[in-house]
Amino acid sequence: MSDAIGRYKQQAAAWAVEAFFRPGMVVGLGTGSTAAFAVRRLAELRAEGRLLDVRGVPTSVETEALARSLGVPLTTLEEQPVLDVTIDGADEVAPDLSLIKGGGGALLREKIVAQASRRVVIVVDAGKLSPKLGTRWALPVEVLPFGWRSQALFLESLGARVTQRQRADGEPFLTDQGNLVLDCAFGPIDDPEMLAARLGTRAGVVGHGLFLSLTTDLVVAGPDGVEHRA
Ligand code: 5RP
Repeated sequence: MSDAIGRYKQQAAAWAVEAFFRPGMVVGLGTGSTAAFAVRRLAELRAEGRLLDVRGVPTSVETEALARSLGVPLTTLEEQPVLDVTIDGADEVAPDLSLIKGGGGALLREKIVAQASRRVVIVVDAGKLSPKLGTRWALPVEVLPFGWRSQALFLESLGARVTQRQRADGEPFLTDQGNLVLDCAFGPIDDPEMLAARLGTRAGVVGHGLFLSLTTDLVVAGPDGVEHRA
């Protein structure tokens, strides 16, 4: 990540925390480098004595560990099934604010948390904006290990070039649920709703990174500053 992109991510995340988090809220904490800046900003505000009663629901084991290390109070969707607002990142953002997510492999919990949130604020650097989903990023699809090669063939039949995600040591990447991720390069996706519907009816597909009609607010940072779209 270049210094400039890191700075934009930090600016978008900090702006969103200050604009959307309020005392007493229960908030969703996203996953990835941009969402981590939001957790860090929340911890900074707490150190100033602000937002002390805000509690977070983390979207991954990684975010949970970060929040705990910074002393951010956590809760669960079992205790708080409706969240006030979630701040999360994204890999690709279309003009209608639909998203591809899952670059960090947390797509399933991220979607569960987003669906449980009254407001979903997506924070990105301007490089994530795209004319059409699939143009810049392969679609992550989370599949059960059982029968995964059948899912890979199914995804190929839908037009994807499929790659099983691996860790740096060459072992299969496993999600927090113990599932595999198949990165599916479709190219520009003409009908994301149709694709989501096809994926949604396939046994063995546990989740996918198409986030449609979930974003309520987008915060983009780039060379021209921070922009908020709703
Ligand atoms: C994790 C995600 C992330 O939000 C997405 O990959 C963006 O990551 P980053 O902020 O590091 O660019 O969906 O599953």
